[in-house]
Amino acid sequence: MTDDVLEHRTDELPVRTGIEREDRQHLAEVLNEALAGTYVLYAKTLAYHWNVAGPLFYSVHKLTDEQYRDLAEAVDAIAERVRALGFPALGGIGHYLQKSAVADVDSLPSAGEMVATLARDHQTMAKSLRGGVAEAEKVDDVYTADFLTGRIGVHEEAAWMLNSIVAA
Ligand SMILES: [Fe+2]
Repeated sequence: MTDDVLEHRTDELPVRTGIEREDRQHLAEVLNEALAGTYVLYAKTLAYHWNVAGPLFYSVHKLTDEQYRDLAEAVDAIAERVRALGFPALGGIGHYLQKSAVADVDSLPSAGEMVATLARDHQTMAKSLRGGVAEAEKVDDVYTADFLTGRIGVHEEAAWMLNSIVAA
């Protein structure tokens, strides 16, 4: 390997798919915020998956297993969409915490509070992604709009399942 090969750095990539540069840059920011929120919710879901206790253990442990796997895949897919738009994908847990729409894990609450917190967080994500869909539609980025729409559906379903566990 020559030194040149080792000196490559992340830079903006040329993208000529009919979406203006400023619009792609704006959507990259929107997606990086979605990435941050998804990552923080992933970490919180894992923490509850490991630590939930009591009669709700099995149902919460199983459901959060499916949900953290989905969130992990989504993190990767969102980041790669940012790259496809030509910009760097946000990295670093500190940056994720700054930009996340959902709060980080604090202490470990009761099983019921864990479920309610995750349900609320999934709804917060759905609400914030809805804004992203509108932004993407405004500049005719149909793929990003469709992709985020799919994520909204997943978050809404996750909230339904979580809320159903603690429904009176
Ligand atoms: Fe597990």
